[in-house]
Amino acid sequence: MVFKSQVALITGSGRGIGRAIARLFASEGASIFLTARTYTELTATAKEISENGGNVHQIAADLADEADCERIVAEAHAKFGRIDILVNNGGHYGPVVPVEDYPLAEFDRVIAVHLRAAFLLSKLVLPEMYARGSGVILNISSLSAKAAFPWGSAYAAAKAGMLGLTRIAAAEAARKGVRVNAICPGPVTETRMSKELGNTLAEKLGVSPEEQLAGFLNTILQGRGQTADEVARAALFLCSGQSSAITGQSINVDGGAAFF
Ligand SMILES: NC(=O)c1ccc[n+]([C@@H]2O[C@H](COP(=O)([O-])OP(=O)(O)OC[C@H]3O[C@@H](n4cnc5c(N)ncnc54)[C@H](OP(=O)(O)O)[C@@H]3O)[C@@H](O)[C@H]2O)c1
Repeated sequence: MVFKSQVALITGSGRGIGRAIARLFASEGASIFLTARTYTELTATAKEISENGGNVHQIAADLADEADCERIVAEAHAKFGRIDILVNNGGHYGPVVPVEDYPLAEFDRVIAVHLRAAFLLSKLVLPEMYARGSGVILNISSLSAKAAFPWGSAYAAAKAGMLGLTRIAAAEAARKGVRVNAICPGPVTETRMSKELGNTLAEKLGVSPEEQLAGFLNTILQGRGQTADEVARAALFLCSGQSSAITGQSINVDGGAAFF
């Protein structure tokens, strides 16, 4: 088992990509600390993991709230005594509107949930990782950080900001035994965020959701979306010793959409 005796804190793990990462890491022996806002989804994920023999705990928290970020890390320590792996995954897309119509409060919230929470949680876990001389942080960014899709300025800015944070944290941590990387998924069409965004875009473009999706997927080399499990497998690689010489990088899991 790749993660035997390790503890993984995974945000946004009640559903979607975070849930897939939590299940896979648990199957590799990690104790899993789940967090998101919806407690029912967290308990469902936790039940599935524990029924498969995994060690798991969960708390409901809002990543936009600094006190909640502190509570997440404090609870993870209280429950498991350490955090070896932090996966910053939780978040939402935000309004689908042009820059001139984007409400400032919504812009601030998208940045807070994705970028500021990744910063806050990293700030809270790095000291113990440095003290042990080991640890991994993985930031789930997006193809949106590297492409130009209209009507998602805060999301793209937050995701691009996460790549900057990844590189700087990696530079600071590299000689202290800690690696920091990012994944940029393309469209993971099975998740709630992706479905809601697709429906909104279809409505704005005056096409059916199926037509909107087909048009987007056609721009990708493989001509299909990615699954949450495919993203989870990349996460497993980047959080395990198999990627011991990789840090400060962003890996595209997008079927061939971005090429840097
Ligand atoms: N699906 C895609 O196509 C795609 C592509 C590239 C990147 N991503 C990224 O992948 C990550 C996971 O997205 P997903 O597609 O799996 O979407 P999802 O199914 O909607 O899952 C998002 C998760 O984040 C949690 N979350 C959202 N806002 C939160 C907040 N303020 N505080 C705490 N938790 C919060 C959600 O739970 P609650 O709502 O209960 O809080 C949920 O567990 C996101 O960072 C997303 O940007 C997704």
